[in-house]
Amino acid sequence: MHEAARRFGTPLYVYDAAELDAALGRVRAAFRDTRVYYAMKANPNLHLLRRLLAAGVGFECVSAGEIARAEQVGAAGERLIVNGPAKSAEEYQAGARLGATFIVDREEEVGLLPPGSRALVRVNPALEVSTHDHLATGAAQSKFGVSLAQVPGVLAALRAAGHTALGLHVHIGSAIRNADDFTAAFGRLRDLRAVTGPLEVLDAGGGWGLDADLGGIAREAHAAAAHFGAQLWVEPGRYLVAQAGTLLTQVVGTKHTGRDFVLVDAGMTELLRPMLYGAQHPVTALWEGRGQSVWDVAGPACESGDLLARAVTLPAPRPGDLLAIGEAGAYGAAMSSGYLTRSRPAEVLWTGEAWQLLRRRETPQDVWAAELTPEESQSAGY
Ligand code: LLP
Repeated sequence: MHEAARRFGTPLYVYDAAELDAALGRVRAAFRDTRVYYAMKANPNLHLLRRLLAAGVGFECVSAGEIARAEQVGAAGERLIVNGPAKSAEEYQAGARLGATFIVDREEEVGLLPPGSRALVRVNPALEVSTHDHLATGAAQSKFGVSLAQVPGVLAALRAAGHTALGLHVHIGSAIRNADDFTAAFGRLRDLRAVTGPLEVLDAGGGWGLDADLGGIAREAHAAAAHFGAQLWVEPGRYLVAQAGTLLTQVVGTKHTGRDFVLVDAGMTELLRPMLYGAQHPVTALWEGRGQSVWDVAGPACESGDLLARAVTLPAPRPGDLLAIGEAGAYGAAMSSGYLTRSRPAEVLWTGEAWQLLRRRETPQDVWAAELTPEESQSAGY
């Protein structure tokens, strides 16, 4: 870690290839005979996509940009799912061109799908689940999916319009630790068997918390798929990449107000999750020191909420010391921003033998690259 920080600077996203492989291994072991579609929103780095594609994994895409990434690494056809509650014409076209399967999120989409599409219907099981409100997607009040009552009608409409209605899709939220939530959701789907008849595919989504009982979730998902005579598909994001990633940040100094702050060179622009969801990432001091005391870890942004962690116990920090923020491989770099014209950090991979630079640190010029001078605007015809 110290070597990576020296060579590539901080803040820095560091990924461990062995842990990436191990996570996929755990998923494969739990989910036999299952198609795995990586929800690339968790971390869309092209190198990671290539690794996963080579290992037989497909992708779930939710934007034109994500579809373009899939195409860039050579994924198409059965390796591609296009999803989203408000797909654009561009997304339908690109998905159709690549032979993707579409997830239908509302009844009106039947008329928007390209002719002869392969589709799954996303079901909203109307359940409260044990996660942060922003991460729950299967509640009756959420914007996702069609209601249980609408399912037979949407399947029939798809078939009447000449599409292939492959089956059902359910994704109840993200970072769900309680396997019972999945059991409840799959149970609601199973109840639909009487009206849908057998199906080709059941897509059980993702959303597995890092310490969730994967074996238990897999058993329930397999049982639900078997109930429909269907093949099981899954869409993990976080589970495949979170633990392989660490955000390395350097201590800038300390400050004592009503609380004791250790000020570091990463914050909400590099890792938004603590601020947005109150997420707690493990924080490890990479220095030795005497005495332990309690610190809030604060970033460089001019916002009070720019904290990476609260009340963590650390040895006395000095400028230049390194902190490792763990479980940052998912929704870390992916949600980083150029707010404050901060340069998105570099991303590096430890292959087991060497460091590989996957993404260089942005420059300020990268951040403003799409902005035009009056002359450029004029010559672009505006
Ligand atoms: N499938 C669908 C339809 C999804 O909407 C998502 C995530 C996934 C799969 C993957 O879920 P995962 O296995 O990663 O939990 N930015 C948030 C997470 C948002 C997840 C959105 N949908 C975070 O930082 O926790």
